[in-house]
Amino acid sequence: MVAGTLAGFIGAIELVAPDFLGNIPWIVFGRIRQIHTNLVMFAFVGSALLGGAHYLVPTLLRTDLYNERMGKVCVWLWNLAMVAGVITLSMGYTQNREYAELIWPIDLGVLLVLALIFYNFFQTLKRRKENLLYVSVWYVFGAVIFTFFSYFFGNAVWNPDTGSLIGMPDAILAWFYGHNILGFFFTPLAVALAYYIIPIVSRAPLYSHTLSLIGFWSILMIYSHIGTHHLLQAPAPTWLKVIAITGSVGMLMPVMTVLINLWLTMRGRLGNIHSDIGGKFVFAGTVWYLLTCLQGPLQSLPSVQRLTHFTNWVIAHAHMGVLGFAGMTALGGIYFILPRITGKPLYSSRLADLQYWLVLIGMTGFFAVLTAAGLIQGNGWLNGETVYRILPQIYLYMVLRASLGILIVGGAFIGLYNIFMSIYSTKGVAHEDHP
Ligand code: HEM
Ligand code: HEM
Repeated sequence: MVAGTLAGFIGAIELVAPDFLGNIPWIVFGRIRQIHTNLVMFAFVGSALLGGAHYLVPTLLRTDLYNERMGKVCVWLWNLAMVAGVITLSMGYTQNREYAELIWPIDLGVLLVLALIFYNFFQTLKRRKENLLYVSVWYVFGAVIFTFFSYFFGNAVWNPDTGSLIGMPDAILAWFYGHNILGFFFTPLAVALAYYIIPIVSRAPLYSHTLSLIGFWSILMIYSHIGTHHLLQAPAPTWLKVIAITGSVGMLMPVMTVLINLWLTMRGRLGNIHSDIGGKFVFAGTVWYLLTCLQGPLQSLPSVQRLTHFTNWVIAHAHMGVLGFAGMTALGGIYFILPRITGKPLYSSRLADLQYWLVLIGMTGFFAVLTAAGLIQGNGWLNGETVYRILPQIYLYMVLRASLGILIVGGAFIGLYNIFMSIYSTKGVAHEDHP
């Protein structure tokens, strides 16, 4: 999170003052943007959610993880792939397709990790002592299986030179992939954590198991074929656009079943949730999930997207989904799980709380500033203005975004310090009352 948000901050500075950093090749905007998205998405949110899954699966199946050593190999391989990703992207080696930028050899590493994780979880499942499969287990398995295949096809692994097809079919494939990463990697893993953590911290049983399974199967059925809503302004076949748009609106079903279920579980118990910093982060994640998924169907409508597409509006939505929803849930998972696996309380619940507020204020600010900038861009372009004549009008918003970024980067540093100290320090523990 520290490295990824710093990269985002460098990108934000470049959008304010393009020459300020002197055009150092390995951090020019085209490269630092890809480093930022890959780091925050796969290295921060992805690692935290996969880590959470490795806690959930054995706990919910009441069985030790099948092979602890294989799990550790996955941690090292995954992180090696991320480091290799940063180095190669900064050198300009990229497949240049959104969220599929990593080059072929690194793709193989990522796929190997996903395959090993599946094998490890599946063997654990086969040896399980708990017969009932709680919905989080469904979500984790769904995520690992779907992500493996999405990643394999989306990166056109059989074409090592380009990692892509040609022309419009490639655009459709790329957004089938790009959307699946959001909907079948981040979303189910984050929802799995929320389904696990919310009942425990609110000290109440899950409101409805039936509803939870309806949500699981309906997301699997709908999410896979709505990626073309990223291509409404491109010459994709109309029938595919219609499917994508109707499916995007239909997404309200899986989203609302999850949220209604979680919020009815915690009804009247918000106090309990907020007394646990992990629960607090996850709760905020559910609110961002609602906002993202109300905005998503709206911006899938062609009449709305004509205004918002290619503008900072989409960047606001992206941060709301990946940072507000998946990122805050991932942080909640870290703070919930860490004391339980170390057997020690957090080093400082006050610092964790500070990080919570920094991220929340930063994210809310991002949403306001980027959405406003997006509307200015969209309106200007619809009125026939060129891109460069609109730039001075969004300058202030870019300055504000970079400034708000400092809060989130600051939050990341505080979190790193807190987690490091929680693991390695024995000092300060006595003053804290956190479970
Ligand atoms: C963990 C927190 C963060 C996450 C998960 C995140 C995620 C993302 C994602 C998914 C995108 C791609 C958006 C798109 O293509 O639609 C993006 C772009 C970007 N982010 Fe972040 N981000 C985070 C924090 C930050 C911070 C702290 C800054 C610093 C100000 C920042 C600055 C940027 C910039 C400048 C872009 C490129 C926008 C553009 O191309 O116009 N991000 N981020
Ligand atoms: C009901 C669910 C959702 C719908 C219908 C939806 C819809 C959309 C649409 C139509 C776009 C493209 C906008 C454009 O380019 O003009 C978009 C972009 C995006 N969405 Fe969502 N969204 C949903 C949920 C989410 C969630 C949960 C996340 C994060 C986990 C997310 C992350 C993103 C990101 C990162 C982008 C930017 C992609 C890019 O780089 O262009 N979305 N979404």
